[in-house]
Amino acid sequence: MLGLKLPTDPRWVNIVEKNIEEILTDHAYCEQKATSTAISLIVSFPEYSDLVTEMTALVKEEISHFKMVHDKIIAKGWVLGRDRKDDYVLQLITFFPKGGSRTTQLVHRLLYAALIEARSCERFRLLSEELKDKELAEFYRKLMVSEANHYTMFLGFARQYGDRKDVDEKWQQLLDYEADIMKDLSKTETIHG
Ligand SMILES: [Fe+2]
Ligand SMILES: [Fe+2]
Repeated sequence: MLGLKLPTDPRWVNIVEKNIEEILTDHAYCEQKATSTAISLIVSFPEYSDLVTEMTALVKEEISHFKMVHDKIIAKGWVLGRDRKDDYVLQLITFFPKGGSRTTQLVHRLLYAALIEARSCERFRLLSEELKDKELAEFYRKLMVSEANHYTMFLGFARQYGDRKDVDEKWQQLLDYEADIMKDLSKTETIHG
């Protein structure tokens, strides 16, 4: 349903389980970055009213996810650490050439966002199914549902604002590229690593 071409190696969960503090820290910043992305789309593309309306709602939702993760960190007696570098996202966003029309740039940003949501959703599903800590597993099950909706929304906007055929082609190319990046990942206790 998410269109991803390479599923995460389930052994990634074993790495995560050894360092819950690290995954929660990285995850908190994923939610912060999702919030920042939504704000940035509003600032960059204010004339797309449907998008601005949805991004305004998304800012609230993503920052509430950040709060949920931060609350978990505090409840466990930890303090939020510094931001982690997200190599996955840094590699992903080099796929489309820079420049092009405003619509092209918007479509590219929407497709990146859709993919990051899709992969996050897939990772959360794995955590919800495999984590031995049942409370944490349930936490990830709820978040998985939210991120699936975001994936659908971003892809829907890309198709709405761009040329449908062109967008679908680009989406398939991006999925292939992402699968290639993923071959070298699933080795660290981060949401996308
Ligand atoms: Fe989120
Ligand atoms: Fe999201």
